[in-house]
Amino acid sequence: MRTPTVGGNWKMNTTAASARSLAAEVAASCKGSKAEVSVFVPFPYLAIAAEALAGSAIKLGAQDAYHQPDGAFTGEVSLTMLKDCSVSTLLVGHSERRHVIGESDSLINAKVLAGLEAGLEVVLCVGETLDQRERGQTDAINAGQLALGLAGVSAEQMSRVTVAYEPVWAIGTGKTASAQDAQNAHKAIRAMVADVLFAGQVAQGLRIQYGGSVKPANAAELFGQPDIDGGLIGGASLKAADFAAIVAAAS
Ligand code: 13P
Repeated sequence: MRTPTVGGNWKMNTTAASARSLAAEVAASCKGSKAEVSVFVPFPYLAIAAEALAGSAIKLGAQDAYHQPDGAFTGEVSLTMLKDCSVSTLLVGHSERRHVIGESDSLINAKVLAGLEAGLEVVLCVGETLDQRERGQTDAINAGQLALGLAGVSAEQMSRVTVAYEPVWAIGTGKTASAQDAQNAHKAIRAMVADVLFAGQVAQGLRIQYGGSVKPANAAELFGQPDIDGGLIGGASLKAADFAAIVAAAS
C-alpha cells in the first residue's frame, strides 16, 4: 500500500504574516492525517513557515532550487540554503517553470539529481498542454518528461521521488481532468516507470499525485482512482480549511 501524499503549492502568494498563519492553520487542521502532507512555500517565508510548522508532521517544501552548491549564480538559491531553512522536499519542473520561466528538461534533470544528492525528497512535475492533449500526445509527453527528468536517478533514489501529473490546461483554470482521464495518464506513467525506466517494484511503490484544479468537491473521486496517490494543490491550498478537506479525502 502506498501512503497517500498531498502537497500545497502556494506559488507566488502570501505575505510574511499570512504565510505564518496559513502554515500554523495547516499544521493544526491536518494534525493526525494518514496522508503525508507538505507545503511549498515562497523562499522568503520558508524560515517563518518552518517556525510555524515546528513539532508538526507537515513537511516543508521549496518550489524550486538551483543545482549548483554555491558561487556566482546571482538570484539563485542553493540546496544547502534550503536545508538550512528546514526544507525537506523540493518541487522540480512545475509547468509554470517549464512554460513561463522556460526551464529545459536538462536543467530540470540537473535539479532532480542535485536534490536527491542533497538528501531531499523530490516531486517531479510532468504534464501536457491543451494543444498536446488535443493531438493525443498526453502519454508521449509525460513519458518524455519522465525519461529526461529522471535520467541518472537510481532505483534506490526513486524511494524519495514523487511524480506529480499536472495537465497544464487544468492548472488554475477550474477545469479538472475527469477522474478516468487522470487515472489513464497515471496508469501510463506507472507502466512507463515499470517497463522502460526502472522495474515493477519501483513503479508499484511510486507515488503519483494529480494536480490541476483539485478542490474539496472533486478530491475524493480523483483520489479514489487506483493509480492516483494524492494531489498537488495550488489555489485551494491557500485556504487551510479547503486544503484540510482535500487532505482528509486522501487519507
Ligand atoms: P491549481 O490547484 O490552482 O489548479 O494549481 C495546481 C498546481 O499547479 C499545483 O502545483
